Amino acid sequence: MFIERHAPLHTHNTFGIAARAARLVRVASEGDVFAALQERDIRYTPKFVLGGGSNLVLTGDVLHTVFKVEIGGMRVLGQEGDATLVEAGAGVRWHDFVHWTLQQCLPGLENMALIPGTVGAAPVQNIGAYGMEAAERIHSLDGIDLKDGRRFTLTAAQCAFGYRDSIFKRSGGMGLAGRALITRVRFALPRRWQPRLGYLDLEKRMEATGCRSPGARQIFDWVVDIRRAKLPDPAQLGNAGSFFKNPSVTPEQCRDIIGREPQVVHYPMPDGSYKLAAGWLIDACGWRGKRMGRAGVYERQALVLVNHGGASGGEVMTLAKAIQTSVYERFGIRLEPEPVVL
Ligand code: EPU
Repeated sequence: MFIERHAPLHTHNTFGIAARAARLVRVASEGDVFAALQERDIRYTPKFVLGGGSNLVLTGDVLHTVFKVEIGGMRVLGQEGDATLVEAGAGVRWHDFVHWTLQQCLPGLENMALIPGTVGAAPVQNIGAYGMEAAERIHSLDGIDLKDGRRFTLTAAQCAFGYRDSIFKRSGGMGLAGRALITRVRFALPRRWQPRLGYLDLEKRMEATGCRSPGARQIFDWVVDIRRAKLPDPAQLGNAGSFFKNPSVTPEQCRDIIGREPQVVHYPMPDGSYKLAAGWLIDACGWRGKRMGRAGVYERQALVLVNHGGASGGEVMTLAKAIQTSVYERFGIRLEPEPVVL
């Protein structure tokens, strides 16, 4: 275990925002977490768990004790029913894990290649892309409750996953925000694998290449390619992926918007509601490529806010609020930020 005081955080968040943490504790094992909780000034102060810092906006110095989870390890556990169970430490980079599963000839995560962040952050945010969500593959996970220092294990159902949401993002009641440190996650990968196609960008690849029944490795390569073309690399241009969730509307609201804006990109959901493409709404309001101070809207994807160099969290949030206001004024829709704002 390693405790750093007044620790700089700019290299620990993909937005590249400069801020400091009162204490930064790097934990590489469960033992490290228990040892940290023995420290008086850690036990009684608020805590924040940091994965890859890829879904975070820091609006100032952090008074919390920040736990940086660096628990490693990946292993195949064996068969369970129709699935092969695999387990990874929470600190493993998500993309490395996806790559490793394919090397083991265990497909099932390929649509989620290249998502930034760690394995431990995947369930918090219920990451997803190209027609698949982490929740569909998560079997169970282990963690430590930082409030009472106890170990816990949760099944996928107990994580109460929603769209970019889980019990780990919610506070109050049953919520575990600010208290659960995930140590290991287990995934159930299907033994009878079927490609998950149907997402427009993947369909276009099939069309362009003539490859009608791609294997998992092919899908992995396509997804990596598509993401590289659409999303900025945080190492070059600070960002936290999609900044807003795609809003959900009722069929009546959707009809009303289509009446006014026939081009609006919308998808029917299994529950009868419609999801609108937030990127399209923001783009339609003329934000793509715009800048406000040192923060801006990515020129190739309006859903991604970027740090053009030295932006503060305040500048990012000012831009986010201006976008929310203009989308609300034009479409009557309130966009909800996806990242955690601290
Ligand atoms: N669009 C525009 N202009 C833009 C951006 C998008 O017109 O500036 C349109 C696109 O043409 C497309 C539609 O909006 O018709 C949706 O865009 P896209 O397919 O790129 O996906 P998205 O809805 O913007 C979501 C996820 C991404 C995920 C992709 C692929 C959310 C909030 N975002 O983006 O997830 O990678 O689908 O599955 O659900 C993330 O959560 O950080 C993230 C990157």
